[in-house]
Amino acid sequence: MCGIVGYVGHGNAKEIIIDGLKKLEYRGYDSAGIAVVQDGKILLKKHVGGIANLENLIGDDPMTSSTGIGHTRWATHGAPSDINAHPHCNEAGNISVVHNGIIENYAELREMLERDHNVKFKSETDTEVIAHLVGINYEGDLEDAVYKTVGQMRGAYAISVIAASEPGKIVAVRKDAPLVVGLGKDAHFIASDIPALLKYVKEIYFIENNEFVVLTPESAKIYDEDRNEIHREVFHVTWDADAAEKEGYDHFMLKEIYEQPKALYETLTRRLDENGTIKLDGIKMTKEDIEGFTKIYIVACGTAYHAGLVGKYIIEKLAKVPVEIDVASEFRYRDPFIDDKTLFIAISQSGETLDTLAALREAKRKGARVLSVVNVVGSSVARESDDVFYTWAGPEIAVASTKAYTTQLMCMYLIGLHMGYEKGTITRDYYDKFIADLAEIPDLLKMCLGNKGYIEGLSKMLYNKEQVFFIGRGLDSAVSYEGSLKLKEISYINSFAIAAGELKHGTIALMEPGTLVLSLATQDFLYEKMLSNIEEVKARGAHVFSIAKEGNTSIESKSNEVIYIPACRDELTPLLSVVPLQMFAYYVAKERGCNIDKPKNLAKSVTVE
Ligand code: F6R
Repeated sequence: MCGIVGYVGHGNAKEIIIDGLKKLEYRGYDSAGIAVVQDGKILLKKHVGGIANLENLIGDDPMTSSTGIGHTRWATHGAPSDINAHPHCNEAGNISVVHNGIIENYAELREMLERDHNVKFKSETDTEVIAHLVGINYEGDLEDAVYKTVGQMRGAYAISVIAASEPGKIVAVRKDAPLVVGLGKDAHFIASDIPALLKYVKEIYFIENNEFVVLTPESAKIYDEDRNEIHREVFHVTWDADAAEKEGYDHFMLKEIYEQPKALYETLTRRLDENGTIKLDGIKMTKEDIEGFTKIYIVACGTAYHAGLVGKYIIEKLAKVPVEIDVASEFRYRDPFIDDKTLFIAISQSGETLDTLAALREAKRKGARVLSVVNVVGSSVARESDDVFYTWAGPEIAVASTKAYTTQLMCMYLIGLHMGYEKGTITRDYYDKFIADLAEIPDLLKMCLGNKGYIEGLSKMLYNKEQVFFIGRGLDSAVSYEGSLKLKEISYINSFAIAAGELKHGTIALMEPGTLVLSLATQDFLYEKMLSNIEEVKARGAHVFSIAKEGNTSIESKSNEVIYIPACRDELTPLLSVVPLQMFAYYVAKERGCNIDKPKNLAKSVTVE
């Protein structure tokens, strides 16, 4: 979490950094700050709250410098406050640091600094130890001091440092937290993510783990741990800043819900050749590799994990291979059985989620082949995988994931189809028909968006429920988890998803007159069973809002409200049934006056454990 932006050049550092931080608020937004080198001193401004608060604080203060670093924070050590906001300085105030990540041995370092150097700490953050260490190690050369400091630190970090006596220089380093360098004309930039820089540059260096960066207006140099200079290929960004703007929608989340038809179209068509066959492009996995896999693990967190739940059904069905699914934070610590016949599929929108990355490394260490499904090109998960299946969702800014989820689902279908076809577990005819059905999904999804008015009205009626249950069977159960997560994360309603057949084993005890139940009944072969489950909750007085396939009208007599999704094959309904759930969550949250794009306590990219 946390976003870093730095600039050295001849322009106004403050303006460029504030601009960049606004694009990184999805990484954290509980406080923000900026430090610049001006007239041989560090000028520091920081404030609790979003970037707007920082801008108010700066006001007309003349920060004319052309060297600076900035930060938007998602608190780990120390509550959100002015004091805990970054940048942090050493006591002399001549060194300033911004940091994303966690310094694991910070308590030890803090004790040593207090004991041996009589340092008086101002904040409760782990980051402040870095500022003091760099200050103590500083003998006139910032690079030297940062190298020495990094040798004393353990943990995950991306840091950027400036020194009052070295205007025109930023030194940065990364380990398990993202950093990119932007290459401008007589100016260089550093940031946690590309959108922060897009207004200014299109040429990027991705920084790898344990690499150091030294930026001046004239040069951007990368060094390894032993201070050998590294040559890095320039990456040309092909999308533009507009793709990350709201374009008239009230919130990024709504815009991203509406972008799903396009994102799904892109994700599908970029993977199909002119014969409608899935093309692998850079993916090196052969037919022999696929035939050799005896087991697949799908591992991810949150919404990406929910995409994996659907992936398990689909891949097992199409490729006839056992698929286990796990959340990354559990998988990485449970010593799973993995060998060189295991395929490990990591799903991650950001490609920077620390738990997913750690699970991936664990699987690789044990010999698994790693295929990742990632949205952010060049992200850590992408770079550390054997093969990458990119989603073409475009930048997703709202913290609550929508288009990344549906494009992850699309990848699950394509992976399942490709594996099944290569293994001969599905025929070419089945494969072709399935792909033809997938090709219709963008248009069918557009039809689902047409329910906007109805869902908005329903949300006005149901927004004040304090408890909501999501139920479904089979693939509907997988989608229930996602619907429930969407609602709770942005509206703060206590929502809970459960496989409908499990209700009677305990949870039904919670049904009371008026309890809201969202029931998904889109699987034809389970439809009758779902009707029985709906009866069970209705009998206890629940208010039932159902999602069903067009034509299955018998559900109306058992539900208070029904939304129909267009008829399609059972396997594909998750791509459609999630849409009314996303919209319901959105409009309920709006009705409750919540901060939809930036829900409390959350951040878009979770680079801490
Ligand atoms: C919820 C949401 C999160 C993420 C999770 C994993 O709307 O977005 O649950 O899905 O934090 O993030 P990625 O996909 O970036 O690994």
